[in-house]
Amino acid sequence: MKNIIITVDGYSSCGKSTLARALAQELNYIFIDSGAMYRAITLYFLNNQIDIFDDHELEKALRNINLKFQYDPVSGSSHIHLNGVNVENEIRKMNVSNAVSKVAALEKVRDFAVEMQRKMGRSKGIVMDGRDIGTTVFPKAELKVFMTADKNIRVKRRYDELKQKTGYANLNDVIRNIENRDHLDTTRKISPLRQAEDAVVLDNSELNAEEQLAIVLQWAKEKING
Ligand code: CDP
Ligand code: CDP
Repeated sequence: MKNIIITVDGYSSCGKSTLARALAQELNYIFIDSGAMYRAITLYFLNNQIDIFDDHELEKALRNINLKFQYDPVSGSSHIHLNGVNVENEIRKMNVSNAVSKVAALEKVRDFAVEMQRKMGRSKGIVMDGRDIGTTVFPKAELKVFMTADKNIRVKRRYDELKQKTGYANLNDVIRNIENRDHLDTTRKISPLRQAEDAVVLDNSELNAEEQLAIVLQWAKEKING
């Protein structure tokens, strides 16, 4: 069986990671949540009060950041470690969500993350989700999925998830955060979120996790066996 690269890009909270994780588990591939990398970098900047607009300080901070994923192929869970500490829960909190898109717009931050992401995909057999994976990170990926869903549905999904994971969620905060990030992510200068020309679109507004997986698994098998 041939190993391919599968990219999953799209708007915030539409189910990219849910799909990418399940797909990797089915195919026995590596799953990488590239958003977790930008979130972990943001967490480091917040914790260390880095002035991201001071180039010297920014470069020094990036040199002090070590990111590793701990992937469990049996459960499909993938936890990001920032300088040896599991920060998977910490990076999902609102303070990080509210700062991450500003951090992810910085050229030095993107160069740092993209270089790591390309290394992770060197031997293929990988599913990576994010915003620019099919356009910038792996422009020659064999299967590119562009995900979208109705905004109200995305808000509900993120609200329910946040409440379940952290015990607290505020609907207006979630709406504001999703709108702001979608705006910043689609309008930034470097690698904005956009659909790659050769991407297949999946609107999952009316699909549950199992249904979206079945559709994309079929697409993946056609590429792998074709
Ligand atoms: O899961 P959610 O849709 O909330 O976002 P995420 O995938 O965790 O990504 C968090 C943020 O990181 C995004 O809003 C983008 O600003 C940034 N990001 C990016 O710029 N490029 C990527 N490949 C992935 C994430
Ligand atoms: O990675 P992204 O921000 O695009 O979304 P996610 O973290 O995979 O999914 C956000 C929430 O939506 C999670 O709680 C998923 O379980 C849920 N979800 C859903 O309800 N229906 C889907 N078809 C996909 C995801």
